[in-house]
This record gives sequence, structure tokens and C-alpha cells, in this order.
Amino acid sequence: MILREMLVDDLDGVMEIEHDLFHMPWTKEGYFTYLTRKDAMFFVVEEKGKILGYMGLITVLDEADVTNVAVRRDRQREGIGQFLVSSMIRLAEDMGINMIHLEVRVGNETAIRLYERLGFKRDGLRKNYYTDPVEDALLMTRTRL
Ligand SMILES: CC(C)(COP(=O)(O)OP(=O)(O)OC[C@H]1O[C@@H](n2cnc3c(N)ncnc32)[C@H](O)[C@@H]1OP(=O)(O)O)[C@@H](O)C(=O)NCCC(=O)NCCS
Repeated sequence: MILREMLVDDLDGVMEIEHDLFHMPWTKEGYFTYLTRKDAMFFVVEEKGKILGYMGLITVLDEADVTNVAVRRDRQREGIGQFLVSSMIRLAEDMGINMIHLEVRVGNETAIRLYERLGFKRDGLRKNYYTDPVEDALLMTRTRL
């Protein structure tokens, strides 16, 4: 299992997971646009040529925002999410990022626990941020130690 930068050739595999996991999936074109942006970092976890998960960050000066985190349904609860997010934190810090922000559905307990294990702290709530279904967003931030 390796972590590497997301490439255009990965997008079919990414879209398969994206459509399976999210009510409002990003489009392939959306991902393509992000892959061309200098302020974006997108990575995949790959095993034997198959995409198991992916994650993206947008950077602004020494801060970053997580755009998405996903692990394919049949490979969840194996530690891949933790591998993905912790690797991304290390890479971001190597690039001089001091603070990472994200938002997550308040009911997404698995994701919240994962982020807390990796040092993210709860620092706000955005009411009715998500649609389909409507749900508040928990805002979380990780500050470099
Ligand atoms: C959130 C998400 C990325 C987590 O990925 P994951 O690969 O399942 O994460 P991990 O395996 O590292 O951890 C998940 C759980 O599995 C457990 N686990 C990890 N390895 C394990 C193993 N070998 N055996 C048993 N349990 C294990 C972890 O302890 C954790 O348990 P917890 O929920 O009780 O805290 C994934 O569930 C997902 O893609 N969800 C849908 C999309 C989503 O919600 N994205 C986040 C939006 S912000």
C-alpha cells in the first residue's frame, strides 16, 4: 500500500469511490480542475494498481483546508483512513503548513474520531451547512505541535 500524488489517470477509480460514498459527488471535471491548481495537493492510497482511498488539501500561505477524505467502502476499518490523513499531515508540514482546517458532518462519528486521534480539535459549528440530508458541520483544526 503506497501513498502518492493523484494523477489524471486515477480519476476513473476515484469517481467510482466518490459515487459510491457521497450523495453529492464531485465531478471528474471538478477533480481535473483541482489537479491542475498549484495550491492543491491531492493524494491517493494505492494497492496493486487499485485506488483504495484519496484525500485533498487546498493551501493558503501556511494554512490548508481539507477538501475531501474517502476510503472505498469494502476497505474501511483497516487503518487506511488513518494512514492517508497522517501521511497528508506529514507532507503538508514538510511544505511549511502550520494549521489544517476541515469540516465534517456532526453525525460522522468515525471521521471525527479519526481526526481527533490525529490531533484535530473541535473549534466551531456551521449550522445547516450540509444538504441532502441537512446537517450541521463541525469545524476542526489541527495546529502543528
Ligand atoms: C471516514 C473514513 C475516511 C475513515 O476511513 P477508514 O479507513 O475506515 O479509517 P480507519 O480504518 O483508519 O479508522 C476507522 C475505524 O476502524 C478502526 N480500525 C482500524 N484498523 C482496524 C483493524 N485492523 N481492525 C479493526 N478495526 C480497525 C479504527 O480504530 C476506527 O475505529 P473507530 O471508528 O471506533 O474510531 C471512511 O469511513 C470514509 O471514507 N467514509 C465515507 C466518506 C467520509 O465520511 N469522509 C469524511 C468526510 S469529512
